[in-house]
Parts: sequence; C-alpha cells; structure tokens
Amino acid sequence: MKSQEIRTKFLEFYKSKQHEIVPSAPMVLKNDPTLMFTNSGMAPFKEYFLGNATPKSTRISDSQKCLRVSGKHNDLEEVGYDTYHHTMFEMLGNWSFGDYFKKEAIAWAWELLTEVYKIPKDILYVTVFEGDEKDGTKMDQEAYDIWKEYISEDRILMGNKKDNFWEMGDQGPCGPCSEIHVDIRSEEEKNKVDGKSLVNEDHPQVVEIWNLVFMQFNRKANGSLEELPAKHIDTGMGFERLCMVLQGVQSNYDTDVFTPLIREIETITGIEYGKDEKIDIAIRVIADHVRAVSFAIADGQLPSNNGAGYVIRRILRRAIRYGFTFLNKKEPFIYKLAETLSHQMGDAFPEIRKQDTLVHNVIKEEEQSFLRTLDQGLLLLDKVIEGTKGKEVSGKKAFELYDTYGFPLDLTQLIAREKGYEINEEEFKAGMKAQKDRSRAASASETGDWVVLIEDETEEFVGYDALQVDVKLTRYRKVTTKKDGDQYQLVFNMTPFYPEGGGQVGDKGYLETSNGDIIYILDTKKENNVIIHFAKNLPKNLNETFKAVVNDEFRNLSASNHTATHLLHQALRTILGTHVEQKGSLVSPDYLRFDFSHFSKVDKDQLAEIEEFVNARIRENLPLEEKRNIPMQQAIDEGAIALFGEKYGDSVRAIRFGQSMELCGGTHVQQTGDIWYFKIKSEGAVAAGIRRIEAITNVAVGEYFENVERNFSEVKALLKNPKDVAKSVSSLQDENAALKKQIEQLLKDKAKNMKGDLKNQITEINGVNFLATKVDLDQGSIKNIMFELGGEVDNLFVLFATAPSNEKAMLTCYISKDLANEKGYDAGKVVRELGKLIHGGGGGQNFFATAGGKNPGGIPKALERAKDYIV
Ligand code: SER
Repeated sequence: MKSQEIRTKFLEFYKSKQHEIVPSAPMVLKNDPTLMFTNSGMAPFKEYFLGNATPKSTRISDSQKCLRVSGKHNDLEEVGYDTYHHTMFEMLGNWSFGDYFKKEAIAWAWELLTEVYKIPKDILYVTVFEGDEKDGTKMDQEAYDIWKEYISEDRILMGNKKDNFWEMGDQGPCGPCSEIHVDIRSEEEKNKVDGKSLVNEDHPQVVEIWNLVFMQFNRKANGSLEELPAKHIDTGMGFERLCMVLQGVQSNYDTDVFTPLIREIETITGIEYGKDEKIDIAIRVIADHVRAVSFAIADGQLPSNNGAGYVIRRILRRAIRYGFTFLNKKEPFIYKLAETLSHQMGDAFPEIRKQDTLVHNVIKEEEQSFLRTLDQGLLLLDKVIEGTKGKEVSGKKAFELYDTYGFPLDLTQLIAREKGYEINEEEFKAGMKAQKDRSRAASASETGDWVVLIEDETEEFVGYDALQVDVKLTRYRKVTTKKDGDQYQLVFNMTPFYPEGGGQVGDKGYLETSNGDIIYILDTKKENNVIIHFAKNLPKNLNETFKAVVNDEFRNLSASNHTATHLLHQALRTILGTHVEQKGSLVSPDYLRFDFSHFSKVDKDQLAEIEEFVNARIRENLPLEEKRNIPMQQAIDEGAIALFGEKYGDSVRAIRFGQSMELCGGTHVQQTGDIWYFKIKSEGAVAAGIRRIEAITNVAVGEYFENVERNFSEVKALLKNPKDVAKSVSSLQDENAALKKQIEQLLKDKAKNMKGDLKNQITEINGVNFLATKVDLDQGSIKNIMFELGGEVDNLFVLFATAPSNEKAMLTCYISKDLANEKGYDAGKVVRELGKLIHGGGGGQNFFATAGGKNPGGIPKALERAKDYIV
C-alpha cells in the first residue's frame, strides 16, 4: 500500500466515525509563546483541552506535520542513527473533546489496524499505565478491561509513568496512555527472543506505532494533579512507522516516504545507500532534515540567527555537515532535493509545491554560506593544530570554533584525528556547560498556578470597537523571570487590549481602581487563546470593577502602520507582481517592517512607485470595511489574501480598504487618510529570494521630514545659502578633485627636489653609503626615493623616519641588495629592533622594511642607533 493511500484510509476511517477531517495546522507556530513548533498532533488543539475555546466539532481527525527538535520532545540527536526517529514527521490523530472516551478510542484503533490495514493481531502488543505512587495515580484498569476484549492478556503489558503517562508540558492537561507496539522481526528472530521483552527497549523492529492518550488530569504548577471536568481523547500514530509496517520493510527509510529522496541523493552524489553504515547515517540525516527544513520554509519560517529560525538553520547545517564529511560534498546539493519533495508530498501538502522555488533558493544560499564557514573553520583549525604542543588540541579552542563558526565537535575531532591529534573533550564539555548554564540562568523563570477568581471561560476581546471598558479580573498568576523579576499575568472577563499577533505588537495602557490607583499594563499577549495582560503589581482589591484603558496614541500609531502594511502588500503585488507573498511582518507604533518573496532588488524607481501607490490610497481616504467571524472559504472567495499561520477553527476576519483585502486579526485605522503619509526608509535582502522593506507613517513621517529639513538647512548654511544646493555641492566636489590632483603633483615635485638634498647627505662609513634622517614625506614618496637612490648609489643603507602626527611615527629602511644578500644586512631586523624605540613594531624583507609606532619622541634615538648596524 502506497503511503498516500495509507494516509487517505486513516482519514476516511475516522470520517466514517463522524469525525471532521481538518487540514494540518502549520508546523511553525507564530503566536504561541510556549512552543516554537507543532510537536504533536494535539498541539494545535491545546486551547480546547485547556477549556479556553470551544471547538466547532467535538470529533476531529487529521494528519499533522510535526517537528521534534527543541524543548520537552527533542529527537534530533537520534535522527539518522536509528531508522525510526525523525525531526519532521506526520502524526495521524483522532480527537474527542469531551465526547467519546477510552471505549471507542480503543475499539476504533483496533478496528482500523486489524481490519482496515489488516495488520496481523499476533504482531501487536499494547501497554497500559501501571499507576504511580508519587502522583497518587492508580493502574488504568478501565483501559485494561477494554483491551482484554480485543487482544489476549499476555500481549497487554504494564508501563510506567515515563512511557505511559503523557504530558503536554510541565503544566496542563495530561493523562494515562496506551501505546500500541508492533513486532516486525523475522520468525527466526522471534523464536530466539520473546517480543514482549523488547517493547519500549529501543529495538528498531519492535516499535511503538500509536499512542492513545486518555486526558483526564490537569498538572498544576506545584506538580499535583486534579481531575479535568471533561475527559478527552488524543491519539497520535507515527505515519512513517505505519508505512514501514504496511509496506513490509524494516526501516522507515525504506518506505516510499523516503526512498525517492534517498534515490535522488544517490544520483547526485554517486554514492550507494546500504553499503556502509557511516554513509547510510549521513544519507538518512539528509533525507530526514531536508523535509523538516523545506516544510518550515514553506510555512514561513526562514533560517536565521535566533529563535525558531535558528533551530531550522541548525538542522540544515547538521545535514550539510554530514554531506561534507561523509559524502564528500563540498558544493551545495541539498537544495536539489526540494523538487523531489515537492513532487512527492505536493498533493497532501500543497504549500510545499506552491513554495518550491523559495525553498530551493533559501536552502541553496544557506548551503553556500555554511560551506564558506566550514572552509574558514578548517583554516582556523589548521592554525590551532599548528600551535599545539604535544598531540592534544585544546578543548577550549575547539569550543571557540563551535561557538563562533558553528563548527561541531565531531567534525573538529575527525579532522584533528586525520592529522594525528586528539581534542581534549573534557575542556570542550566544560565550555559547553558554562554556556548552557549562562543561558539557563538568563531565561530561568517560574510560573505559578492560575488563581481563579471568577469561573469565566470566554474572555471577550472588545478592542476593535473600544479602547476603554470596565472589566473584572477572572484569574491571575505570578511569573518570576530573571530578566523582569516578579510580574503578574492578568485575565479579564473582557478586554480592550490587543494581544501581540499577526506581526502587531501588544497594547499597553493601565487599569484604574475605584480609588484612583493605577496599575500599568506593560504588554499584552495571547497564550492558548487567552489574552494575558502583564503588570508589575496586582490591584489591592481583586474583586472590584476596574476601568481598563488602552494607551490610545500607542494603539493609533500601531493601527496606522498596520493599515499601511496592507496597502504596501497591495502595492507590491500590483507593481512587482502577484508572486509577492508576505513572509514576515512587524507592526509597531514607531515603524513597520515587511518581508516578502521577490527575486531581485527593488530599484529606486520601483520604490518611488510603491510609495506613491500607497500615498494615493491614503489620499483617497478609503474607509475600513470589516467582516468579522466569516467562514474562511467565503473570505477567500471574495478575494481576501490568506497568510500562513491560520489553522482550523481560527475565527476569520476580513479587512478591506478599497481593493486591498486580507484576512487579519489586527487593528486598523477607520479611513486611510488617518495614516497621513507613508515613507519607505529602507529596502534590502533578508535571505535568498526574500526582501525587506522598512517604512514609517503618521507622526514618524513628520519627525523624519523635520530632521531632513534641519540637516538640509545646516548644509545650506555651511554652503552660504546658495540658490541651487546640489549644484553648489557638485562644484565643491569638482574643486576638491582638482585640488587633490594638484597636491599629488606638488608632492611628486617636492620628492624630486628632496631626493637631490638627501643624496648629498649620504656619508660613507666602512664602505657603506649611509644616511639616517627624519623626512617630511608620505610613505609612497619615501619608497620611491629610496629605490631611486638605490639605483644611483651602491652599498646604500638608509633609514628614514617620519612623524605624521603627535601619536604616530614611522621608520623605513632600505639596504642595497648586495649588502643584504652578501654581507648579511637585514632591513627587517633594523626596523624591528629600532621600532621598539618608537613603541611599535614592523618588518619586511632584508632589503626593505617598515615599522610603525606611537612614539615620535623615540625618532632621534632610532636615527642615532642606525649606524650601529654597519659592520
Ligand atoms: N499527544 C500524544 C503524542 O504525541 C498522542 O497524540 O504521542
């Protein structure tokens, strides 16, 4: 059965059980401060489990793109070494939100595996949670009794908290789980060792394929558990592992999910898979990582130097390095796999097909730049090895290479070993640990439990229509971080504060208590669909009604930049073409930043046209037309541009200004005239095929023009207020160029005259024609004179000193080649030693050398000592 069919069968099965089938949410999360990537099928539904939102349907099923490379669930280091862990993988899942529970979840999983996919029952094992004394949880008898109806009891195994209790994070919904494992070893192997003993033992052919989680508890900040009011089901099946079982192969990499990529790597490198374990690991690493990186880029996450972008960059670099070291690929090649991937996955995940050019270009540029870094690192490593006494290279140096050049230890070790050296690993680890401790200390935080004052699930956002409302505090918690100290996070029954999202920064403002006390709201963010307000302190009386007031200037300026962002997007698509897509955006009160796909520099004329396009829309004073809570499809049919990041269940709001229509949750001006004026400040590249425009609107433009005007007036005054400033500057430049030329000529003439004087000062000492003197010439003239004198006078030894400033001194020494080569004279030695007198150093060849220093006071002594070098 082909992987495509396996996926479809799963979804059809759950559809027949009344589940709503939804598309995969993005793998990259944009607005979740607690998670960078979707790391399991349930992550997009967290808010439903937490009770912060109500799903449209209580039964959902999908195949979700997941990435496990950071945080609590991190498989990165395993990938490539075994045949069943991945960075990016698909998780097939079915969910019940307070609907069915263990009985149906188990019955359906069994039916699908054994009747639809026809997996023989005698290769399956299931596990049941055995209970945990510390948590006070009992064995999951309910699950055990249900499983008994389907599978013989000797195939039901007990599992501990580590394997059979699933938690989303340190806090939040969790519960016991039952895993389904499959034993695909040969009969012969099975006769030797009982499969039961290999479950959860990291055996490559006895692996978990499905995890059925029975969410029934909430883990609190103090570690204790409380029962959830409604019970949920969260199941996750590893798609690639299921394909391995159903396609009768022994490794995920032998399924048709990976074989097209592996064949392509073989073709590109000319190296065959399956012959040498080290090479196979490298090929698996690359086949796996190119999927993670490509899907991340297609979801809008470009490799970068921080946050999620850095995680993606590190994954790609890991792949490049394996190619570099084990496949001997010193040129970019991974980008070529993007096309194979787009062919293979484009039907199930259209985003990968739509973005394939971008994926291709971004990966290629990353490869080019990292390969350059590797080259530089190799040179540095050579130097380190050269300077190493004994056979052990300093681990500190290896850590520096890692830290500044991303040069991994194993690569450093490999190269060092080839040259007969070892790296001091202990020192490397110490450097690593110190760095980790530093960053842990910097980000350490402690989050308390929510203190609930009013049971109110839905916190209404009223900030589109009002900037000031009366609110009640429904819950709060204390968060302590190293950076900000103690802070409180407040949740209200309703709020006018816009939470950071869609590129727009969160609102600021204050709460006013009945006796006039002010509690400042420093920032507003959204977490699991709850709007959280950050404050330094709590109101004294928590239960009264507060006046919540948004800082209207901050908000209006953000709104102005947000609407201008939409108009800019429209301008770019109109002027540059519809290939332009938003790739990132920041909307703050001070300025806006907009990243978009486009393959060349936007030139000056185009920028002027874009600016004028936006300003024309501003002059038209187009009114805001807003549609709230409309179905996504309707908005798209009406012509709205949807950005990355939307997922199932998001309420859709369409924002229109004239012909610009976008899906957007942000805040906007009432009419475009409120923006006042739009000015582009800069345009540049962010990555291959991605450009960035930074622009300002409103009062910032006023300040900008005031500044320009002030600078201009100052320049004009300096030029004595000419009528035509540009002409005046241009004639100054011409004058300057002519003067430069004159000076050059004068210097040449001066040098010519001086040469005669200097020649006359030469005296003969022991057969050497010697002169040591201070001159007032530039270095170029000194060099010329010296070489000319050398041509005219035999056995010449001259030392010239100059003092270009009070803090700068130069010594230049010329010695005829016959003296240097036959009598052992050395100009380099002369300036090196005499250079100390001017507090400096230098060197060169034996016939010509220079030294620079900071002490012109040392010049007379240096000149005096020069004759000591005559032998
Ligand atoms: N949340 C569970 C897991 O990730 C099941 O979906 O394994």
